[in-house]
Amino acid sequence: MKHLLKMLDLSTEEIIEILNLADQLKYELKHGIPHPHLKGKTLGMIFQKASTRTRVSFETGMYQLGGYPLFLSSNDLQIGRGEPVQDTARVLSRYLDGIMIRTFEQKEVEDLAEFGSIPIINGLTDFCHPCQVLADLMTIREFKGSFDGLKMCFIGDGNNMANSLIVGCLKVGMSVSIACPNDYQPPKEILDFAKAYGGKFELTDTPMQAAKGADVLITDVWASMGQEGEAEKRRKAFTGYQINDELMAQAKSDAMVLHCLPAHREEEITEKVFEAHANEIFEEAENRLHAQKAVMVKLMAN
Ligand code: CP
Ligand code: NVA
Repeated sequence: MKHLLKMLDLSTEEIIEILNLADQLKYELKHGIPHPHLKGKTLGMIFQKASTRTRVSFETGMYQLGGYPLFLSSNDLQIGRGEPVQDTARVLSRYLDGIMIRTFEQKEVEDLAEFGSIPIINGLTDFCHPCQVLADLMTIREFKGSFDGLKMCFIGDGNNMANSLIVGCLKVGMSVSIACPNDYQPPKEILDFAKAYGGKFELTDTPMQAAKGADVLITDVWASMGQEGEAEKRRKAFTGYQINDELMAQAKSDAMVLHCLPAHREEEITEKVFEAHANEIFEEAENRLHAQKAVMVKLMAN
């Protein structure tokens, strides 16, 4: 594993290794056991979109590993004024030991990896959000003990979160059911991947169908970053695609609920369900820190 660009690139073994290391790093942090695996290393963090969790967890995580994080806003970088990503990659590779990037196009992340010579970590693109889904898998395993026999149900937009969840959950052996409006389904590349899993994957436009017998219910915002102009249209299209009490009644009685955050209460999830599952949702947010530390150690320690 040289980069973390998308879940599609990871083998099941690599995912499990990251999760095991994340559990260990979480234990060490909680018990005051130092783990300076990246002493003297630097991570550049390029943000072309807003962030609370990704920025703070990468920055803190790098510090806890003994390294140094640099926050690089695209407003201040030449990349924001049109310097080609190929040149940015070759320059930054000479200063840094790794780059985390949050941007719009997946191609930009893939290009950084192709033209640079240091590990690249995808901190969210329009296509996927692998760091979040590694934290989600870590949280599911923490609460449920294992992935065996579990069903994950995603309700809402076939977006970056849906894409990474479909791939990540299928790769670790869970079954997956997705409920999206017909015009907002995940892209063909993801559906083709999922179809190879046969009966373990279901795509429907009926949330109540998708939620039947689910062990884990997940949703995300109806309008992602960059789609603010379509918010009203999306609000109409996604009406009914909400995690609420009625939907929860279809799931297993001990089902957990996750949300990558930020959440829009009374849109994709009711306040009541959100607060009833706040312990899971905020553990999930915490696990971003541990999962990303594991990714950085796997990619950058030597
Ligand atoms: N879930 C997530 O990636 O949060 P931020 O946008 O705050 O980083
Ligand atoms: N789908 C959301 C996830 C935010 C973490 C977005 O891309 O804005």
